Amino acid sequence: MKTHEDANTMTQTPPNKYGFFDDAKREYVITRPDTPLPWLNYLGQDEFFGLCTNTAGGYTFWKDAKLRRLTRYRYNNVPYDLGGRYFYVNDGGEVWNPGWKPVKTKNVAYECRHGLGYTRIVGERDGLEVETLFFVPPGENLEVWKVTVRNKSAQRKTPKLFSYQEFCFFDALNDMTNLQRTYSIGEVEVEGSAIYHKTEFRERRNHYTLFACTRPIAGFDTSRDAFVGIHEGLHEPKVPFAGACTNSIAFGWNPIGAHQVDLDLAPGAEESFAFVLAYVEQGDEPKYDAPFVMNKKVGRAIVEKYSAPGAVDAALAALKKYWDDLLGNFQTECPNEHANRMLNTWNQYQCMATFNMSRSASMYETGIGRGMGFRDSNQDLLGFLHMIPSRGKQRILDIAATQLSDGTCFHQYQPLTKKGNAEIGGDFYDDHLWLVLSTCAYIKETGDVTILQEPCGYADKEYASADAQENLLHHLETSIAYTMKKRGPHGLPLIGHADWNDCLNLNCFSTEPNESFQLAGDVKDSKAESVMIAGLFLYAANEMDGLYSFMGKAADANRMRAHHAEMLAVIERETWDGEWYTRAYDAEGRVVGSKSNEEGKIFIESQGWCVLGGAGANNGRAKQAMESVHKHLFTKNGVVLQQPAYSTYNKDLGEVTSYPPGVKENAGIFSHNNTWINLGWCLLGDGERALEYYLSICPSAKQDQIETYRGEPYVYAQMIAGKDAPCFGEAKNNWLTGTAAWTFVTVSQGLLGVKPDFAGLRIDPCIPKAWPGFTATRRFRGNTYQIDVKNPSGVCKGVKSLRLDGKDIDPQAPIPFVADGKTHQVEAVLGA
Ligand code: BGC
Ligand code: NOJ
Repeated sequence: MKTHEDANTMTQTPPNKYGFFDDAKREYVITRPDTPLPWLNYLGQDEFFGLCTNTAGGYTFWKDAKLRRLTRYRYNNVPYDLGGRYFYVNDGGEVWNPGWKPVKTKNVAYECRHGLGYTRIVGERDGLEVETLFFVPPGENLEVWKVTVRNKSAQRKTPKLFSYQEFCFFDALNDMTNLQRTYSIGEVEVEGSAIYHKTEFRERRNHYTLFACTRPIAGFDTSRDAFVGIHEGLHEPKVPFAGACTNSIAFGWNPIGAHQVDLDLAPGAEESFAFVLAYVEQGDEPKYDAPFVMNKKVGRAIVEKYSAPGAVDAALAALKKYWDDLLGNFQTECPNEHANRMLNTWNQYQCMATFNMSRSASMYETGIGRGMGFRDSNQDLLGFLHMIPSRGKQRILDIAATQLSDGTCFHQYQPLTKKGNAEIGGDFYDDHLWLVLSTCAYIKETGDVTILQEPCGYADKEYASADAQENLLHHLETSIAYTMKKRGPHGLPLIGHADWNDCLNLNCFSTEPNESFQLAGDVKDSKAESVMIAGLFLYAANEMDGLYSFMGKAADANRMRAHHAEMLAVIERETWDGEWYTRAYDAEGRVVGSKSNEEGKIFIESQGWCVLGGAGANNGRAKQAMESVHKHLFTKNGVVLQQPAYSTYNKDLGEVTSYPPGVKENAGIFSHNNTWINLGWCLLGDGERALEYYLSICPSAKQDQIETYRGEPYVYAQMIAGKDAPCFGEAKNNWLTGTAAWTFVTVSQGLLGVKPDFAGLRIDPCIPKAWPGFTATRRFRGNTYQIDVKNPSGVCKGVKSLRLDGKDIDPQAPIPFVADGKTHQVEAVLGA
């Protein structure tokens, strides 16, 4: 285990009190378990996922955290994080956990390493070291828990090790709430070292959970009451303290999986074995071998596979290779260690999590509420497409199929069913435009325009066959047409329930505390308009223009240019407030986000999107809007969402005014929208501001204020408390945020300027003047580009010369793309 002295030699960033980055290993090392909040990692990359905290808390699910939950977790528990992948060690009567919790025995040495797709937790007490390693092998629907027990003492040791996790009855909401039923239905079978959780298997279900040990066991328990007790807690479970399992077979109540492994270790000896926690669907296999006896063929094969010598280590090696390959798609060496570390490792890793989870399962999302968000998942793609474009393609088509034929969208859908979530509904009038951004990003990444022709129906229409469905391009046109058509009195797009800012509810008017801000209120015939959607539309129209131009469709490109010009004229005519762009018009036609308002005078979103869409480019307003952001909204911890914060609830504005000042959408620092401002600075060519703003929300740069920041130092947070809050600088909602994808775009495309474009890769950095340059490796459409940017004259922006494999090429155009699968040298020199 590393000491702080070791840590200093491993990274330039001083370790904080709780841990440090081990950049070479791509791990975050946590050196004490009592972190300011539970620090989370995710296991799994394909369809099987686990949440795993630094004390081994968390749960597991297949595909859908709501509908296929395999293990239990109690939300907002006391302490926050309780329940998970626990091991209890009984060493001569002394009981402890390698991950400290739940027993929290004194004098247990501890180290947790969160790595890419795995978490390794090591505990040591009285000369006995227990190393636990949790991961999901690529392509598998199972978790491996590898355990290594080492006797570092001079005496023979005969410790007993108990595994423990609690099964969930698959439907997580029902599992937690419908106790009159669930207390009677639990069923398990045990065969050798394998515990099968098969609740409801006899009725409608054709799947089960397997929890098995690859080594012979001395006993097991499957009844929580037997293992833990009725009046006991997880910190004082009966069996580990008594030192022997009871071989209980759960009938109803709460089934668990617990194994007892008895070890006999000579001084210096060690033993390794593993547990697998798997999800199995029987498919066409018969369900039963005999009445009440499950067919365990698949489960047995899994146990056999992972019991083979070397199988677990091979699976771990496959996981490491998987991530090395994926991250190899983009690597940089630039003068800023935070940008390097985040971009090269953690940011891309977080993008995988947001792609897989959307906003469903984290320490802040319970997995029983939200599924995949329409706007969220489209934006998440922006940080994922360069890694696995084929999965991105499927996601785009899945999302598009939840759009309705009038252009509006289901706001969320369930990943298991891929069906829109009717309770949450639709009518968020920005949703459809994000589909334009994700689709264009896919085509820019791959050059594959055939995606546009893929059959893709609308959620409210029935089709005789896939051939009868519309295609993806139809959805993009529907989206553009919707915004052009659905406009209000000022010619700006209507807002519906809300635009990106889910809490600016201009049609809600709720005075009833039991209503949802997002869903109360009728949007029909409303006149409320959004300047942010107008700006986003400019951007989307530009994208469509670029796409059609690339496809040689000049008339369509011109049509998009005309849309852009029309919306731009509206923005410039109606929304310039003197020093910034306004935010909206409410249902009564009153302005929101103007100096004439008493609170909420200036909002971040419309400055970001108007500037990125090309507003204010020729009349100085873009620069002025951004300077206003700097003056009124920027802080050392990021840009607050608006100012002044709302102090009282205003039913005409909705949820945004319900929050205490300084948090969430009421003047909190919403990292997601900070990135749009960042990209704005890049567009305007201010590399100093671009880096300064980026670092203000960068978790790696918060080591010296970790007690205030509290969140994981390795992933971006959705929200950091703003200057109006007493806890200014405190992070919340870490992990599942659009910040992941957008900071990837900001750093890779904005700062470093390595931009996929339709015709090829474009090089257009915007860096601080003091940077002498940087290098990057970018895999793109099967080729590899080794990019070397030099900045001899100390500028922020402007490529003076560009060479491809030693030959001069047009510095303003994308690098001409030839698909040869080779490595190419690109040299860019910045300057006037
Ligand atoms: C949150 C928003 C979120 C919305 C989703 C609100 O309470 O503040 O960030 O988008 O809920 O339902
Ligand atoms: C989080 C939601 O997931 C996202 O859809 C929304 O845009 C932001 N909050 C801002 O309200």
